[in-house]
Amino acid sequence: MTEKRVTFASKIGIVAAAAGSAVGLGNIWRFPSQTADSGGAIFILVYIGCILFFGIPLMMSEFIIGRGSRANSAGAFHKLAPGTPWKWVGRLGVLTGFVIMGFYMVVCGWTLDYMFQALTGSLHTVTDFSANFNNLLSSPLRQTGLMILFTLMTAFFILSGVKKGIEQSSKIMMPMLFLLLIILALRSVFLEGSSAGLAFLFRPDATHLNPTLFLDAMGQAFFSLSIGMGCMITYGSYFNNDTNFTQTAVQVSILDSLVAILAGIIIFPSAFALTSNPDTITDELVAGGPGLLFITLPELFNQMPLSVIWGSLFFCLLALAALTSTISLMEVVTLYIHEEYRFTRKKSTLLVTAGVILLGIGSSFSPWLFNLMDVASAKVMLPLGGLFISLFVGWYLDKRMVAAQITNDGTIKLGVGFLRVYIFLLRYIAPLAILAIFIYGLVG
Ligand code: TRP
Repeated sequence: MTEKRVTFASKIGIVAAAAGSAVGLGNIWRFPSQTADSGGAIFILVYIGCILFFGIPLMMSEFIIGRGSRANSAGAFHKLAPGTPWKWVGRLGVLTGFVIMGFYMVVCGWTLDYMFQALTGSLHTVTDFSANFNNLLSSPLRQTGLMILFTLMTAFFILSGVKKGIEQSSKIMMPMLFLLLIILALRSVFLEGSSAGLAFLFRPDATHLNPTLFLDAMGQAFFSLSIGMGCMITYGSYFNNDTNFTQTAVQVSILDSLVAILAGIIIFPSAFALTSNPDTITDELVAGGPGLLFITLPELFNQMPLSVIWGSLFFCLLALAALTSTISLMEVVTLYIHEEYRFTRKKSTLLVTAGVILLGIGSSFSPWLFNLMDVASAKVMLPLGGLFISLFVGWYLDKRMVAAQITNDGTIKLGVGFLRVYIFLLRYIAPLAILAIFIYGLVG
């Protein structure tokens, strides 16, 4: 580590950067399709449970590891636990980052494609929205081109530096996206026939409970909060000494969950309201799979006055939300190569970019590979990473160091009870529950 590490400048910048990483296609694209797949409201309940019991404590743990070491995600374990195998947790995270980018960038490419369709007005004239999406899916070259474009955009921000790139873009675009989502949710809810969609979202049906639902919900929670791979370790390493971890983790989790649920309120009521065959809509939603967002939303826009403007605005902001997430993913891997192998930032970025493009080409041409990377990262790699991170902070790290990090050396008054509960969660509840859900989900 030759150069002085930068830190995020302002308090709002810290929440914005972490929230910018968390809020992305995971909330707006992946969450609705997982929810559709798993039967609606019951999935959301389990998901919220996962956010509370593992999500928030684990995000705080990553912050502790990050700021406690001021190093990249693998170097952090190296520094805090020298000469132990814990560094493999960091390395697993770097690998996870590659795998996630390998399919995520393709979806980012879809977002760009829809942005162009909306801006040129062609999306506005489409009549068969499924066919329109399938057109894109059946053209690997078009997907590859857009994926490469998005990867290069991400690399550009990584090279332009942490402060300027990440902080500025997050601060402006997050509130705008939020506002737009609220407008779209209102439009969707007031469509005639939308109530069945709301019931699907908010009336739990216990008959949908099954072992894989828990693993799906947990994987989605990890994926959406950007935890389990060291992303929040890396961001934590840039935090100021007076950043309040508890507050930041709670704020980011609330924002992130709100965006996901808003996305649900946009998609489901309009899917139920706009369908021509209400009897089969639930099956259609499941079958729609990864296309849900790209099929249902343009249909909603066409129900609105000035549809070209709404559609363009939405897909531009979605692309930006995705960009702040890909920046965080690429930053983890780039910083690792830069600090561990002493490559310059530029060389590290180029290497990572090339690797991601290769994986992205694979998943543009092979839906099987795309799916494999999605499942492997969300349902296997992130939960495993989370398990080890909770064990590391709960058992390995010195309790006084954990307390000092959480209370900023005693300046934040949290009470002994809070710390006890926190450590207890990390030692027993989180690891045992993650393990149980993991095994139950894979076997069941
Ligand atoms: N959380 C982001 C989303 O919901 C994706 C993401 C960014 C991510 N960084 C991550 C997922 C780290 C897992 C780990 O779109």
